[in-house]
Amino acid sequence: MSLNVVHGGDLDEISRIYGIDKSCILNFGGNVNPLGLPQSVKRAIRENASDAPTLYPDVSYIELKKAIGEYTGIDSAHILTGNGSTELIALCINAVKPKKAVIVSPAYSEYLKQIELVGGSAELFPLREDEEYVLNIDRLKSVLHDGVDLLVICNPNNPTGTYITCAEIRELLEHCLKHGIRLMIDETYVEFASPDKQVSAMPLAEEYKNLFIVRGTSKFFACPGLRLGYGACSDREITEYISSHRDSWSVNIFAELSGKVMFRDRKFIEKTRSLITSERERIFGELYGCGDIHIYDSQANFFLVRIKREGVTSSQVFERLLAKNILIRDCADFPYLSDRYIRFCILDKKSNSLLIKELKNILN
Ligand SMILES: Cc1ncc(COP(=O)(O)O)c(C=O)c1O
Repeated sequence: MSLNVVHGGDLDEISRIYGIDKSCILNFGGNVNPLGLPQSVKRAIRENASDAPTLYPDVSYIELKKAIGEYTGIDSAHILTGNGSTELIALCINAVKPKKAVIVSPAYSEYLKQIELVGGSAELFPLREDEEYVLNIDRLKSVLHDGVDLLVICNPNNPTGTYITCAEIRELLEHCLKHGIRLMIDETYVEFASPDKQVSAMPLAEEYKNLFIVRGTSKFFACPGLRLGYGACSDREITEYISSHRDSWSVNIFAELSGKVMFRDRKFIEKTRSLITSERERIFGELYGCGDIHIYDSQANFFLVRIKREGVTSSQVFERLLAKNILIRDCADFPYLSDRYIRFCILDKKSNSLLIKELKNILN
């Protein structure tokens, strides 16, 4: 297999190709919370293991939506649930059926895939290296005109980690309203951001009908296998379309009962925020200004890094680290990035220190 297609986003693929046992890999590529599944969720699954599979989930997901409503501050009538955020991304795009979309890029590949599946086309709006990959709102507004029907932003953005604020999102929504454009924001990583940065658009969900917010639990609550995602939207046309076009029980019973406890687990939420915030500052401080790399400021639980050392590529760094059972994401396949970019997420302090040491060994 060509190394170009092995970028590190898929642990099973890496394990198969390189013949390394999955459990031996230190996975900096998955962007999953290093604290692992909350104890409260483990307990709920254990206690219901024998009976839950014999029942259907509540088809209206009333209690689950109530828990999400309390967590997000949104009326549960405006909450949608789905089989991971991926299902909601697809459902939202299906409901809007954009003819012409704008996607802020580089970004998660699923948006473009789904837009093309419904027969739409997308213009990729580039985040720029000379702007440190921070979204320039005025530049974006200049491409948002009447011919566009959907704008997609991931906030904080994967793979750059950069973000825009709720106030900037309001400015964009006002501009979009004038041109008949809907805004889909993917907030998969928003809970890792410091609350004082005011990154989430949730406070705007009930005010702006042209806003659709997608969130997942895979990363923050460390449960990608459960497949639980949710969305917030106050446009009844969209929510009714989604409710009538989705599989009635797309959230399985274990995801449903887990959701009812995880959003109320304040201890886990605070512990995660505290670990990610302190490690994010420490890693940035250790790598910023470090000879042969450039690290971009991030409000996510991962960092984008550019390799400045002549002649060293992202796949070489990827291979050197994998030889030590350390997996990072080679970002060569993202639009507007190149074979000089890598991404890695924040794990526990000891693992992060090991990665910093190995990166410095390779690049300094
Ligand atoms: C930005 C972004 N959105 C959505 C997803 C999919 O998450 P989920 O497991 O909730 O479907 C990912 C997964 O990597 C992601 O990076």
